[in-house]
Amino acid sequence: ALIVRHRMRSSSRWARAMAIVRELEEKCGTPDAKLKQVADAMTVEMHAGLASEGGSKLKMLISYVDNLPTGDEEGVYYALDLGGTNFRVLRVELGGKTGGIVSQEFAEASIPPELMVGTSDALFDYIAAELAKFITEEEEKYHPPPGRQRELGFTFSFPVMQTSINSGTLIRWTKGFSINDTVGNDVVAELTKAMHRQGVDVNVTALVNDTIGTLAGGRFSNKDVAIAVIMGTGTNAAYVERAQAIPKWHGPLPKSGEMVINMEWGNFKSSHLPLTEYDHALDAESLNAGEQVFEKLTSGMYLGEILRRVLLRMAEEAAFFGDEVPLKLKIPFVLRTPDMSAMHHDTSSDLKVVSNKLKDIFEVSNTSLKTRRVVVGLCNIIATRGARLAAAGILGVLKKMERDTSTGVVEKTVIAMDGGLYEHYNEYRKCLENTVIDLLGGDSSSTIAFEHSNDGSGIGAALLAASHSQYLEERS
Ligand code: GLC
Repeated sequence: ALIVRHRMRSSSRWARAMAIVRELEEKCGTPDAKLKQVADAMTVEMHAGLASEGGSKLKMLISYVDNLPTGDEEGVYYALDLGGTNFRVLRVELGGKTGGIVSQEFAEASIPPELMVGTSDALFDYIAAELAKFITEEEEKYHPPPGRQRELGFTFSFPVMQTSINSGTLIRWTKGFSINDTVGNDVVAELTKAMHRQGVDVNVTALVNDTIGTLAGGRFSNKDVAIAVIMGTGTNAAYVERAQAIPKWHGPLPKSGEMVINMEWGNFKSSHLPLTEYDHALDAESLNAGEQVFEKLTSGMYLGEILRRVLLRMAEEAAFFGDEVPLKLKIPFVLRTPDMSAMHHDTSSDLKVVSNKLKDIFEVSNTSLKTRRVVVGLCNIIATRGARLAAAGILGVLKKMERDTSTGVVEKTVIAMDGGLYEHYNEYRKCLENTVIDLLGGDSSSTIAFEHSNDGSGIGAALLAASHSQYLEERS
């Protein structure tokens, strides 16, 4: 009798677990019709954000980049790329018309977590110190002529209200950064002060978002690049807009007639977004509740965390991992998206990777194959929703640009893509790209292409530093 009772209990636990999975799957559903609504909502918000400052959740920030790189850029430039879990410093040598990128060196460091929530000075001092170290090492190798002013492109991947190509104030932090005393300040001034404290003299000639850098870097290698999308820790897009289609721009009309816009689409929100109880709880407990809703559904910082929340509920309500709820499962953000990706891509017949990850991260051992299969299924549900929503976002941008093939205009459009999620999460990337092509329909695969712009954002910042150099004339 005891055995029978136990068996019944475990089968009803399993039924309860499966009910949670089914409910998730249903709530995360993104049929094409829904994605088209999301895309249309994106287009509408783009118009609203361009019309007036504060007109939409989409900030549609003016980048002050009205000319993308031509390929003529020349000289040695530094770039500093701050925006996610890592930051990078680069030295790029540009060869001018025929030279392309002559050489490229970089160093990478991770941002100590306490600096992400500390003081502005502490963060910028750390960055400036790493930059100073890098410059010293590089100059020992390359021996630049004495007296030459160093110039730098600063990729700062947070929402910034630009006041010129090389100045702008931080609107707010995203992606787990939260440093009150930076908000409202000019981030170039913050960096410049920190560099002085470190005794290093560098002139910041361009301040750009990573999407803008990626667009610039992408255009440098392919003239059909007109959109850049980052799928990394966070997510965002930039594109080339007609200056005349920006009612809130009161400055002089640029000669090119164009202006690059940093959408900050991570903050997009719409009643069409399929939000679950897990998303609501994640948002409420985040450092930026109510903000970056699209980002929290689609980007690398959050996908693993959504999965953890689902697994926790299954452990608590359906004893999915046995009688005890694994303690580690209760720790926010212990399950990182790269681990989720590894489980999702496990092709071994006994799902060894899944089993090892569950052991290493949550300390649950002896999971059954059946259990592991469910975990892979959950990865798929969460990643698919994210990738398809990101695809809908891209469709929205293409519509705004009138480059969705349904309008009959057949202009080749290349989308420069970057970010760790795009680069490393194959299922996610495939799903995103296929969904864009499917939604566009017809023979869109011949007019729309994706290009991985490997570290485009760093190179792009160097290119923009070059085209906005204040010393170019003296040099030539
Ligand atoms: C976040 C930032 C945005 C950045 C994106 C990708 O959404 O707010 O500026 O472009 O992450 O790094």
